[in-house]
Amino acid sequence: MTTPVRKAVILAGGLGTRMLPASAAAPKEMLPVLDKPLLEYAVEEAIEAGIEQIILVLSPGKESIREYFEGNSRVARTLVERGDDRAAIALRGSHLASFSFTEQREPRGIADAVATTRAIVGDEPFALMFPDDLIFASPSATAQLATRQAETGGSVVAVQPVAPELVENYGIADTAPGRDWRISGIIEKPSASEAPSNYAVVGRYILAPSIFEHIERLTPGRGGEYQITDAIAAQISAGEPVHALPFEGDRFDTGRPGGYLEAFVAAALRRPELESSVAAIRTMLRMSDHAS
Ligand code: G1P
Repeated sequence: MTTPVRKAVILAGGLGTRMLPASAAAPKEMLPVLDKPLLEYAVEEAIEAGIEQIILVLSPGKESIREYFEGNSRVARTLVERGDDRAAIALRGSHLASFSFTEQREPRGIADAVATTRAIVGDEPFALMFPDDLIFASPSATAQLATRQAETGGSVVAVQPVAPELVENYGIADTAPGRDWRISGIIEKPSASEAPSNYAVVGRYILAPSIFEHIERLTPGRGGEYQITDAIAAQISAGEPVHALPFEGDRFDTGRPGGYLEAFVAAALRRPELESSVAAIRTMLRMSDHAS
């Protein structure tokens, strides 16, 4: 029997340079999509997948994330002191799950960030999530991965086909439907000619705990950083099962302004009470179509 996935590691340590100057003012993971911090969408997705414990990897300067999920922000404390009903809303994030925190001191790559969680994760499969990749799906992308991992064991990686000119932005899996989506190799940000397929890894994984041993043996990869893609490649080389899952859902790269904008609109389309604002956006777009 496979072990259920009970823990999720969510990375919230990145610098967010593609969202400057906003990311210089606030952690990019706490930028809102409508009225909710981005990170909270990832937390809710994890909970929907049955995750009980969330481990957030922070970096220096991201203390406000910890305050928020510990229910210790200044706003929340003030509202509690005043007996204000809105305290419940301000505290909502902290009631969602049980949270733990680790710190990545230097930006040395995703694998290095994951390594900080080893003692908390222990010897069980866990979800790894990048909150910049916002995914609207039902069941959630992480739930889809966990269901698949219960069948395959080992590790399962969310993938999406991308245009050839975009493969250089992603980890690319050597996989195909005919092979039951088993991955025979995976490479970080290849050129179009090196890419073994056009199946790009998006920021959702279920990883077997052997990943921690493979991370220990890594040498710096693409960009001089410790890459999780290389640690997964080591699982494959060791004969461990690693599968791709072309999940069902809409994914937005909120780490860049265009993707962030699309995520806002997609989120608004899911909120019936925002119908009149959505209608105003439609009118705006029609008018600009006519003007051009
Ligand atoms: C990271 C991973 C990459 C993956 C991507 C998904 O890259 O290294 O393999 O495809 O996330 O969002 P980053 O976007 O941090 O450069």
